[in-house]
Amino acid sequence: MKRHHSREKKEFNPETLALGLGYDSKFSEGAIKPPIFLTSTFQFQSAEDGKRFFEIAYGLDEKRPGEDPGLIYSRLNNPNLQIFEERIAAWDRTEQAAVFSSGMSAISTAVLALLSPGDHILSSSPVYGGTHYFFEVVLPRFGITVTQVTGGTETPQLMREAAARIGPEKIKMLYVETPANPSNVLIDIPAIAALAKDLGRDGQKPVVAVDNTFLGPVFQRPAALGADLVIYSATKFIGGHSDLVAGVVTGSAELMKTVMMMRTVLGTMAGPFAGWLLLRSLETVSVRMRRQAKNARKLAALLVEHPRVISVAYPDLLQEGDPQYDIYRRCCTGPGSLIAFEVEGGEEAAFKILNRFEVARLAVSLGGTESLVEHPASMTHADVSPEEREEFGIKPGLIRMSVGIEHLSDLERDLTHALDLD
Ligand SMILES: Cc1ncc(COP(=O)(O)O)c(C=O)c1O
Repeated sequence: MKRHHSREKKEFNPETLALGLGYDSKFSEGAIKPPIFLTSTFQFQSAEDGKRFFEIAYGLDEKRPGEDPGLIYSRLNNPNLQIFEERIAAWDRTEQAAVFSSGMSAISTAVLALLSPGDHILSSSPVYGGTHYFFEVVLPRFGITVTQVTGGTETPQLMREAAARIGPEKIKMLYVETPANPSNVLIDIPAIAALAKDLGRDGQKPVVAVDNTFLGPVFQRPAALGADLVIYSATKFIGGHSDLVAGVVTGSAELMKTVMMMRTVLGTMAGPFAGWLLLRSLETVSVRMRRQAKNARKLAALLVEHPRVISVAYPDLLQEGDPQYDIYRRCCTGPGSLIAFEVEGGEEAAFKILNRFEVARLAVSLGGTESLVEHPASMTHADVSPEEREEFGIKPGLIRMSVGIEHLSDLERDLTHALDLD
């Protein structure tokens, strides 16, 4: 299946492309679904073919129009990965995607590919704990430094001030995670992209990288809003069944060439089986995420009314006039299905509530078909300092819920039962 209709030249929608793009059944005995290509290496039809495939893969020569790059070795390319990459790039409307063995390998490979000693990253905070550790502990050992500024409406201004302090010429990446985990705070992606342009010198500008794990690829398209790289933990909504660990980076062909070369060198690509599972998952990502958001909207409304609940953070609850609502309206097309709510009674009450769920499971991670609940202060954000936890609104009574696709009435009953402690 091609990306455009042959007669009308109109691009198909990603929901449609996710079922056919990049796969020709004639190469696989007519199988409707791509088989798993569980192979480490690929046979060349001739030595000349092998030579040519390497020339293209190692960037020694440009691919000619219509030329097939050719399969070599599963650390460089594999059909399950390539088909998935075409389809997720279609979702993000980017030129190229690369799939990795985890969200963390996607983030670390992209950063190591594009930055050098002496370079500086400006990042929003909080970011996912693994990213935080990579930024604060690992990167400084390689001479790359990171300044984190508070995530939210003020992030572009705070980054502008930080760049002026540090020296705009040193800033090589603006990294944002939006919505933030677990606060659901939103960051204005077009304003970050505009800042990157302002900081640019001599045709070079900082790369704008957005971790789109919470809302993408369905409810937020950062590349259309000015991001250069869109990053995912595909373990979450893209995988969607809590049965795999993977990551994705998408962006322009030029940037992705460098990222993919680093992936080849580090060997951080996903395996063929994970690629095959991701192909299955991508077919339903829109259906799943919309159903999850539909359930989440109702549960958020229930939580707002509950006397034991002090506050609820969920994009759908934002009100006109709130600057966060303005960002939501411009950057997102739906609220997703992560709700953070604070209950009265601190950790003790939160734990009692968490232990009473019967449908939602007590586990970290998110985005799967099943509902999950967890306690950020003692679990996902346990290594964040108490001061920072306070700043990010990670209170002892805060519970994070990832809403699944279960029947709404069961979820409502489960949530009400869990909250009604006495
Ligand atoms: C927003 C975000 N980014 C990145 C990651 C890292 O992904 P992975 O666990 O697939 O390495 C996570 C994991 O929870 C996450 O929530």
